[in-house]
Amino acid sequence: MSNWKIPKVSPSEITPQEVYHSRREFMRLGAGVVVGSTLPSSLLAGEKLPNLVKSNYELTDKLTPLADITHYNNYYEFGTDKESPAKTAGSLKTRPWTVAVEGEVHKPKLWDIDSLLKLAPLEERVYRLRCVEAWSMVIPWVGFPLAELIKRAEPTGNAKFVEFITLNDPEQMPGVRSPVLDWPYREGLRLDEAMQPLTLLAVGLYGEVLPNQNGAPIRLVVPWKYGFKSAKSIVRIRFVEQMPQTSWMKAGPSEYGFYSNVNPEVDHPRWSQAKERRIGDFFKRQTLPFNGYAAQVAQLYTGMDLQKFF
Ligand code: MTE
Repeated sequence: MSNWKIPKVSPSEITPQEVYHSRREFMRLGAGVVVGSTLPSSLLAGEKLPNLVKSNYELTDKLTPLADITHYNNYYEFGTDKESPAKTAGSLKTRPWTVAVEGEVHKPKLWDIDSLLKLAPLEERVYRLRCVEAWSMVIPWVGFPLAELIKRAEPTGNAKFVEFITLNDPEQMPGVRSPVLDWPYREGLRLDEAMQPLTLLAVGLYGEVLPNQNGAPIRLVVPWKYGFKSAKSIVRIRFVEQMPQTSWMKAGPSEYGFYSNVNPEVDHPRWSQAKERRIGDFFKRQTLPFNGYAAQVAQLYTGMDLQKFF
């Protein structure tokens, strides 16, 4: 991956944040638990997601503007430039869409995306996203814990890892015609990481349906790991016994490990990971171990040498 570049967003693209903030305040004051079954049958990018449940996953960090979150993207299926996905991901068709849950589970299932959206109440969660390229954002995601889906699949005793496989369609995705990665884009988690309550299946951001360039209709968000673990536009979730190989491990095994926990003490071979630039800020800031989520996740790695298992 290339290093940091200044996002090019014209002022006219900046969404009025006050509108969003007043809505968040309203949700904080008045939100009750509303079940997902009240969702309309099919939602498209940019539509407002109704009946969001306010969650405890708040941060005091300033939110990254919507225009930056949607115009400074890594989505190689739509080009390797940060600006390309916003320009070209319009061709991605997010309906009909299915997600196959399969492998070492007692209850495999082909989920239709609209049923998946009703599986659990949709929560808003503000998370930091730290990219391996040493930039970061603060994003108000909308989604539900991956654990909700895993519980319904009932993994067998052999399930040790979860593999995420994303769409690979040259008709819709100009980037997959070039061999920059081994397509489809694949990622993986250990089962306990996948069950960790922070691990989210995101379907929206800023209260609206996920824009295509951010991984519509459904993507993973694992906030204590580098952003590339957060696979976009997932079509298959497979439970396996052996550690799966990921697209980035295949592309550069010495640069991208399976764990990819945000770790300021383990440099990328070509650059330091000690600091990061928050998009919109001028000065760099210190990178926190596990991206600031150590209290929640550090115990998952007790006894592991995190220099070796990077
Ligand atoms: N998922 C797919 N399918 N293809 C990709 O190229 N890029 C990853 C991750 N998920 C990627 C992907 C990387 S490198 C990052 S940093 C995040 O998506 C970026 O997410 P964002 O564009 O929503 O900020």
